[in-house]
Amino acid sequence: MIKTEALSFSYDGCAQALCEINLELRDGEFLALLGANGCGKTTLLKHLNGLLKPSSGRVCLGDRELRFFKDEEIFRRVGMVFQDPNDQLFGATVAQDVAFGVVNLGLKPDEVARRTAEALGLVGASELPDKAIHTLSFGQKRRVAIAGVLAMGPQTILLDEPTSGLDPRGVSLIMRLLRKLNREGGIAMLMATHDVELVPLFSDRVAIMSQGQIITEGPPGKVFANTSMIREAELRLPRVSHLFEILQKKEGLNFPEMPMTIGEARRELIRFLESSSHGKAEGISLRVRPGEPADDA
Ligand SMILES: Nc1ncnc2c1ncn2[C@@H]1O[C@H](COP(=O)(O)OP(=O)(O)O)[C@@H](O)[C@H]1O
Ligand SMILES: [Mg+2]
Repeated sequence: MIKTEALSFSYDGCAQALCEINLELRDGEFLALLGANGCGKTTLLKHLNGLLKPSSGRVCLGDRELRFFKDEEIFRRVGMVFQDPNDQLFGATVAQDVAFGVVNLGLKPDEVARRTAEALGLVGASELPDKAIHTLSFGQKRRVAIAGVLAMGPQTILLDEPTSGLDPRGVSLIMRLLRKLNREGGIAMLMATHDVELVPLFSDRVAIMSQGQIITEGPPGKVFANTSMIREAELRLPRVSHLFEILQKKEGLNFPEMPMTIGEARRELIRFLESSSHGKAEGISLRVRPGEPADDA
């Protein structure tokens, strides 16, 4: 568990980049930190692994303040994946890079090799160990950066806009990987992003950040229901939610739930058609079996 209490920070002693942040990342959860450019996401993440120190307030890892931990202990427990993998990778080869942090833990060479191979396997990069970093694609670099963090065996990973710069397939690959590591590996994820579409698909909880403050947090359905707050934070609704909002406002159609994903919209529409009095929906029913993955996951 990582927690901030009244965390404030200023880069120049004048303008507040973070203002009284109270945020908790619980063990094993997937929390999205959603906010427009410049709202303070990166600054906040850098406080959670000690790269920046609070101007006031505090950061706790478990029940101890972060400032009482040695850097190596923090880096072992809290991994950080930078927005630009070029800022993270500096080994000559993939294997050297992934092993770098583990070597610094003072582990034996065979344990280093085991962890490196395992981490590369987890991110689907088992064929890359001997490749030179500069020959990798951007998506491969990001997966190698994640492998370097995984090799440390962290309980928590902080991800700064992990989908930025990726094409749709790359986004999908990375998000499925992160969710798998979260669900199967029990690693808590804190993902900074401005991509509203990803949040309902992948996160348990979302915190909305605006101008250095956390303005609301909760399950995505509850947070996105406050449409005016989302827009005040210079964000927008997921596309399908926007469509349902228009159908409600302009066509006067009433939906009990505001869907946020294609899967939820599909269910909501079928329910609506089934209950419509026009009888047009005869024969339409939800052809989805329990346990079937969501259409858009
Ligand atoms: N190294 C820095 N020096 C001075 N100001 C900075 C620095 N990094 C970020 N800022 C400022 O802090 C604020 C928050 O930035 P940042 O945390 O990068 O936001 P985000 O990651 O949400 O885009 C912005 O106003 C930005 O200009
Ligand atoms: Mg940023």
